[in-house]
Amino acid sequence: MSAQLNDLPHYRHMVERDLDAIMAIEKVIYPHPWTRGNFKDSLRENYHCPVIEFRGEIIGYCVMAVAAGEAHLLNLSVAYRWQRQGRGRDMLNYLLALARDSGAAKMFLEVRPTNIAGVALYAASGFTEIAIRRGYYPASEGREDAIVMQLELA
Ligand SMILES: CC(C)(COP(=O)(O)OP(=O)(O)OC[C@H]1O[C@@H](n2cnc3c(N)ncnc32)[C@H](O)[C@@H]1OP(=O)(O)O)[C@@H](O)C(=O)NCCC(=O)NCCS
Repeated sequence: MSAQLNDLPHYRHMVERDLDAIMAIEKVIYPHPWTRGNFKDSLRENYHCPVIEFRGEIIGYCVMAVAAGEAHLLNLSVAYRWQRQGRGRDMLNYLLALARDSGAAKMFLEVRPTNIAGVALYAASGFTEIAIRRGYYPASEGREDAIVMQLELA
């Protein structure tokens, strides 16, 4: 890779050797992180799995499945020290463009009601709440609901 490109945050596909770095980020930013197996399954299924790399370091990553004209955002993560610098919004816009290019007419996602940053980001990007999935997520005590959000891509 040219020194020029490496000096700017840039997108590339996630590969299995990224998973040590990604798991280290997951464990910091989520109380209930994805497992390495979740990421391996996503790679095996050929889901869209872009990462943002900057100077050899992964600073953000996301996972999106597209099938039957619908995109499903499964993971959107920014490393702790890179948060609140526009990376989350940038990755979401990147995925929205990718979903449209892949022929999706809608994007869906689930988010914890307690995830203030996530809910604010998705709402600001035009997602609206369409349902609640009761007890969808593990929580420190029992289970937590998920808000299901949708955005029309047409
Ligand atoms: C949610 C997350 C991806 C946002 O990424 P980010 O790079 O920190 O956010 P950005 O700087 O792009 O901010 C975009 C918008 O998100 C919202 N937002 C981000 N962080 C926020 C916070 N801590 N509190 C409230 N709103 C927040 C704001 O609306 C913000 O727009 P503004 O800066 O104009 O106010 C990031 O905080 C993260 O990785 N969190 C942990 C993992 C997670 O919860 N992922 C989402 C799972 S559904």
